[in-house]
Amino acid sequence: MIKTGDMEFAPRMISPENTSEDNDIEVTLRPQTLHEYIGQDKVKENLAIYIKAAKLRGEPLDHVLLYGPPGLGKTTLSAIIAHELGVNLRITTGPAIEKPGDLVSLLTSLSDNDVLFIDEIHRLSRAVEEILYPALEDRVIDIIIGKGPSARSIRMDLKPFTLIGATTRAGQLSAPLRDRFGVIQRLELYSKEQLTDIVRRSAMILGIPCTLDGAAEVAGRARGTPRIANRLLKRVRDFADVMGNGEINQQIASVALSKLEIDELGLDSLDRRMLEMIIRGYGGGPVGLETLASAIGEEAVTIEDVCEPFLMQLGFLGRTPRGRCATKLAYEHLGFKFQDDNGQLAL
Ligand code: ADE
Repeated sequence: MIKTGDMEFAPRMISPENTSEDNDIEVTLRPQTLHEYIGQDKVKENLAIYIKAAKLRGEPLDHVLLYGPPGLGKTTLSAIIAHELGVNLRITTGPAIEKPGDLVSLLTSLSDNDVLFIDEIHRLSRAVEEILYPALEDRVIDIIIGKGPSARSIRMDLKPFTLIGATTRAGQLSAPLRDRFGVIQRLELYSKEQLTDIVRRSAMILGIPCTLDGAAEVAGRARGTPRIANRLLKRVRDFADVMGNGEINQQIASVALSKLEIDELGLDSLDRRMLEMIIRGYGGGPVGLETLASAIGEEAVTIEDVCEPFLMQLGFLGRTPRGRCATKLAYEHLGFKFQDDNGQLAL
């Protein structure tokens, strides 16, 4: 049985959300070409064709929507697309574009065939989205001049460009916006083997001696997410420097990650708290997302975007119309006895 209670308010080592420390390391480690980018093979294959075709025709790449859990490399992939196209990349986020005028100045500052990347595109305001529709469809923007009865609209042509939108929640995009993307690609969680390759590549770039089994140990606990793998690599390096001879091997990695309260499958205290609440508090489920979120004092979006994709991939969590359920595998992993009839549970 894994104890969770005493870690309740610890910062999450394995949150895939981006931090400024991650930004520094991600920029250093970011692959520059599709060839260097590990994993997401289907997405890469398709993008390679579309990029080549756009270059052959001398046209901008069609607008691209990338969606999937956080930390999987949506920004990295956009930088690669711009690099492969040989054009500039402008990066912004949905909430940063506050007013229609912000988007107008972004769009009018682009050069031919440039890439505009909007992260968290589901958070664009309605008014900003309205500007985007004709920009995406007809490469024009309608600017309203003046107010009231004397207001008039003038139409401005834009240079050809590609919008890459990224979101963790494709379901929240309005249908008119979603329909304007010609290429829609879902990024998947990475396999342990792919993450092992990513950890080895990162260790090499950062000059950290790392054995294959050390990299595999870090990879195996990174919940399918390169951002987490790279963050864990840095923390494990601290343990290797202080407790060992600087080399990351399986033993050092395992000790370090256990001290960070990340178990051998990559679950952290929040994952365990959530599963324990379903099992102990709600007889294994089903329990509604909002109820569960307030029971463990966490935001529903964090549970939905961060915990659930990984727990579902492990087969620990079921989502039914009536709510979330813990599976037999989850019971066993947490040291609970599973009873088919959902009767009282034995510890
Ligand atoms: N670093 C982070 N994500 C990566 C990826 N998919 N391939 C290579 N290096 C990475």
